[in-house]
Amino acid sequence: MTSADPATRAALTDVGGSQTDGLGDMDPEEFRAAAHAAVDLMADYLAGLERFPVFPSVEPGSIRARLPSEPPEEPAPAGVLLADYQRLVEPNATHWQHPGFLAYFATTASGPGILGEMLTAAIGQNPMIWRTSPVGTELEQVVVDWLRQGVGLPPVFDGLITDTASTSSLIALAGARETAGFSVAGEGLAGREDVPQLRVYLSSEAHSSIDKACMTLGLGRSSLVHLPVDDDFAMRPDALERAITEDRSEGRRPIAVVATIGTTSSTSVDPVAAIADIAGREGVWLHVDAAYAGPVALIPERRAPFAGWERADSIVLNPHKWLFTPLDASLLLTRRMEALRDAFSLTRPYLQAPDGSEPPRDYSDFTPQLGRRFRALKLWFLIRWFGLAGLRRRIEEHVRLAHEFASWVDADPDFERLAPVPFSTVCFRYRPVRLGAAGGDGDRAMEARLDDLNARLIEAVNRTGDVFLSHTRLRGSYTLRVAIGNIRTEERHVARAWEILRREAARLDA
Ligand SMILES: Cc1ncc(COP(=O)(O)O)c(C=O)c1O
Repeated sequence: MTSADPATRAALTDVGGSQTDGLGDMDPEEFRAAAHAAVDLMADYLAGLERFPVFPSVEPGSIRARLPSEPPEEPAPAGVLLADYQRLVEPNATHWQHPGFLAYFATTASGPGILGEMLTAAIGQNPMIWRTSPVGTELEQVVVDWLRQGVGLPPVFDGLITDTASTSSLIALAGARETAGFSVAGEGLAGREDVPQLRVYLSSEAHSSIDKACMTLGLGRSSLVHLPVDDDFAMRPDALERAITEDRSEGRRPIAVVATIGTTSSTSVDPVAAIADIAGREGVWLHVDAAYAGPVALIPERRAPFAGWERADSIVLNPHKWLFTPLDASLLLTRRMEALRDAFSLTRPYLQAPDGSEPPRDYSDFTPQLGRRFRALKLWFLIRWFGLAGLRRRIEEHVRLAHEFASWVDADPDFERLAPVPFSTVCFRYRPVRLGAAGGDGDRAMEARLDDLNARLIEAVNRTGDVFLSHTRLRGSYTLRVAIGNIRTEERHVARAWEILRREAARLDA
């Protein structure tokens, strides 16, 4: 499917078109007709996803070349915009909603989430302070607490919703920086002789958003201590302890440690309880990055990897990863709201209540931004439409599918699994028996050959358009990943991915 069929296109261009020389917004009846047509487009798109290749067959720059380089002077009716959406946007998108999308970590735009997004756009709230959106503010308090209860954390955790885990971690680390006692929000860091080098500890497998947060917060990349991991890609607490001792003895000041539950490459799990012991003893802020895996904690029987996270100062988990919420929604939970306030609160007279009364909550007190989206609405819809039980069932099924895929890899002598599967992501590579048993660190030539083979394999697999995989490197080796988390992915899609992998591997061999 590369363009709208003529009948659909004609129907869309019929929608509205009452452009006048007036000054107001779109006429309400034109809006109604166009919005109905847009909903039909959405429903048709979601129902027909499998007609698209997951990754479009498109050359870089070719989409831009089809668009005018100069902005239009004259207006176009809504129907034309919708027809152009169907003609230009749909066929040139990477289809994250396609059930064959098994790359990175999924982001599902589920039905209730989309409904929430649509209404969010229309009601146009800005819950920066309570007065600018009482319902936006209080609904956020409610859904944050529902999610907190859902994942089994104690009531001492409060929090807020941000756009991404990158922002959530930045805010958490700003709280850690302020808690260290150097009043950086007020005094800054430049030119100060009373501030030693500050240190933030994380594993070599932690996400780059932590590095970026330190760059943004004035701590610099030099503040980061990337610690070695064990055979399962988990942070080694002994290395953390040693690094802190060494830093202290050389006059540096440890301020935070970031533990990851579900790292980006292999979804490994840092030993949070052991790390919490050290953080507690050393008086450093513990931030837990559970951006991807956090929703698994909705399932009480699957909480073992989360042991100790209740002792964290802050935790991030992303509903827009494995909780079927359309981008964007990241949940930052913390027991230290006052530290976030110290880092970001700055109230101007124009943001105060006219009678000087204290609002129940002004969320912008805790974030670098003033304006904020009303993200609580889609979460409210989503949690209620699925119910916690429905969310658990779907997550559980994804874990089951991943383990099934892993069992196929394990049973095939021509494939090799490269990491444990604690959640719903499988890391593996093609390693045909005919190449012999060599490989590993000791055999660079073989490793290079396997890297090349696997890079060609993923290219071939993704070119089919039926599935879309991503890759990483583990212990230096080119690694394929199958990450299940899209609500539309069923067993048949995972089986198809495996069939295509084996078929394309055999083709490469031939
Ligand atoms: C463990 C982890 N943390 C943080 C992030 C960043 O997430 P976001 O894109 O919401 O900033 C990712 C992204 O994949 C991740 O895997």
